[in-house]
Amino acid sequence: MEKLEKVYEGKAKILYKTQDPDKFIAYFKDSATAFDAIKKATIEGKGTLNNTLASIFFEILNKHGIPTHFIKKLSDREMLVYKVEIIPVEVVVRNIAAGSIVKRLGIPEKKPFNPPLVEFYLKNDELHDPIICKEHILAMELATEEEIEKMKELALKVNNILSDFLKKHGILLVDFKLEFGKRPDGSIVLADEISPDTCRLWDIKTGEKLDKDRFRFDLGDLIEGYKKVLEKIQE
Ligand code: TMP
Ligand code: ASP
Repeated sequence: MEKLEKVYEGKAKILYKTQDPDKFIAYFKDSATAFDAIKKATIEGKGTLNNTLASIFFEILNKHGIPTHFIKKLSDREMLVYKVEIIPVEVVVRNIAAGSIVKRLGIPEKKPFNPPLVEFYLKNDELHDPIICKEHILAMELATEEEIEKMKELALKVNNILSDFLKKHGILLVDFKLEFGKRPDGSIVLADEISPDTCRLWDIKTGEKLDKDRFRFDLGDLIEGYKKVLEKIQE
């Protein structure tokens, strides 16, 4: 499958058309951004690692019956995906308090959420991805009530599947962000990526942070953390 014209360039990926109008190629870049791209860097090898890890996670999810845009990994930096219309809502699932919820609500870090917490954020960098509720999504006509319920249901299923898988490999899935897209038949599928860029992943034994927080808060070499995730899940 050959890359044709560029359709969209985001902070971490580029989408290209292919000969098949229903399929795109997602190309994973080496760029890293944080805090709505206020902090930026090029980190050699990040694109390859994220494409590999996202492909593994999508394959697991597809096997468990979760509808995703993922078709297959094509090369080190490329995956083939179905074309979707992205719903501009970021769905965050939290198992344990960390990151923005600790700052925003004063919840102590590491407080467990039972059941896991599902939050919605508006996908808009200029507005700094503000947190929104279901009523905002409906008022802005970003998704219907049924679509919101579907996103929530799928997000919680993804959480169960990936939490179980990662736990077996000694990694705690603290929280993560998902994006969903609409297929031409109106069905909702998981899109974008799932990788250490979009998840918080802590080593269960040592507590070491293996995800993009290493870059956000200068906690250590990002590649080293992402490589540890890959090594652990291949054990
Ligand atoms: P937060 O604690 O900063 O709100 O992040 C929650 C989760 O979402 C965390 O795993 C990182 C991920 N995330 C993204 O993938 N993209 C983003 O733009 C932000 C803010 C968070
Ligand atoms: N992805 C966002 C950015 O690039 C924020 C983050 O992940 O911290 O700015």
